Amino acid sequence: MMEKLVIEGGKRLAGNVKVSGSKNAALSILVASLLIKGKTILYNVPRIGDVWTMLDMLRELGVKVSVEKEFVEIDASVIEKYEAPYELVKKMRASFNVLGPVLARCGRARVPLPGGCDIGTRPVDYHLKGLQAMGAEIKMEHGYVEAIAPHLKGTEIYFDFPSVGATCHLATTAAVAEGITYIRNAAEEPEIHDLFNFLNNAGAQIRYIDSREIEIKGVESLKETSYSIMPDRMEAGTFMIAAAITEGDVTIEGIDPQYLKPVIDKLREVGCEVLEFENAVRVIGRKPIKPTNIVTFPHPGFPTDMQQPFTALLTIADGISMVTETVYDSRFKYLSELARMGADVKVEGRTAIVKGVPELTGAPVTITDLRAGAALVIAALAAKGISELSGLENLDRGYEDLEGKLNSLGASIKRIREESKEWVL
Ligand code: UD1
Repeated sequence: MMEKLVIEGGKRLAGNVKVSGSKNAALSILVASLLIKGKTILYNVPRIGDVWTMLDMLRELGVKVSVEKEFVEIDASVIEKYEAPYELVKKMRASFNVLGPVLARCGRARVPLPGGCDIGTRPVDYHLKGLQAMGAEIKMEHGYVEAIAPHLKGTEIYFDFPSVGATCHLATTAAVAEGITYIRNAAEEPEIHDLFNFLNNAGAQIRYIDSREIEIKGVESLKETSYSIMPDRMEAGTFMIAAAITEGDVTIEGIDPQYLKPVIDKLREVGCEVLEFENAVRVIGRKPIKPTNIVTFPHPGFPTDMQQPFTALLTIADGISMVTETVYDSRFKYLSELARMGADVKVEGRTAIVKGVPELTGAPVTITDLRAGAALVIAALAAKGISELSGLENLDRGYEDLEGKLNSLGASIKRIREESKEWVL
């Protein structure tokens, strides 16, 4: 069913909103639950498209999954299949990371290479190199990676760039390898700490011995556990920027502001008032929005996932901002959609030059990826008139009831079915 969001811009957001569980933490923890020969109970799992895709992946592997109101239960006592279906890896890259855990459990695994022609720009070379160093024999045939290893052993791994996915994947696999693994120049995003807390609760021995350096002492097996997933800092950041662009006053509950330091800092630079509490953050937006420069960086730098929503805010700043993307080589495709709403943007290499305009105007636009969706929603909240956003499956991958939460703060957003124009309330 083709759905659209119809957003009437110009409404000031005010009130309190609670964040859901973290998408990225949930995905890596669901993968890690494959290592536990028994039950894992997870609380605060966000109800989003990517989580459903990962649960489908676990089911495909023969793992028992049950989704209850308050928690999700995984029973990986038995892994029936060592082959992952193409459809699910194509849909979501993060599902590629079942490779290592299935290999550790079954002695072999067969998982499709993610992303078809995207492989050139978003490779999985660190993942494969790390598994090989742990003793796996890796073959690539017919678009699949086939890994065989009757036995995985500890090793030393170095990344050229601190990859979140490869850090999670390899540390999880190494948790049950024989001996000690070191990962150097590893990523250190908060969601990775959450994954390690989960694994350590289940009996793993993983710790940072320095920033960017992880030591994993392999254990024979992991035990049944229950765990509550950390809050989603990207969802929180999205509400913060939405408050800023609407000159709103929004308190985001359930998140420790320390996770959001770079976003808080930049919001203050553009003129917002930001108040930090123990488990909440309040953003009061003020116009004019001042221009600023942003450079994305691995944690603790400015998160690339906030680059798109923040750039939406800068499109109506009082001057010129430069936004430089260092994590991905192309994450600016959404700018042409923002331009359809009146933004004045130009890309030169890895930098977007954003010349603030007095106002955006509502337009029909298409969401091409998750955070592009956040950027377009934020732009539409401030734009004059009505915007129609299509491509909602991309937004629904990572946000739980985004329009419901924004409407509770005073936004005017309706989800409609394209064919019938029937309102879905
Ligand atoms: C994760 C997050 C995503 C976030 C990103 C960067 C999940 C599910 N997704 O994605 O939201 O935007 O981190 O913070 O957690 N690279 C290689 N070779 C590899 C692996 C990565 O060259 O084998 C490169 C990538 O091309 C990219 C960079 O490393 O340029 C960072 O990617 P990575 O941190 O791996 O991103 P993901 O884990 O896919």
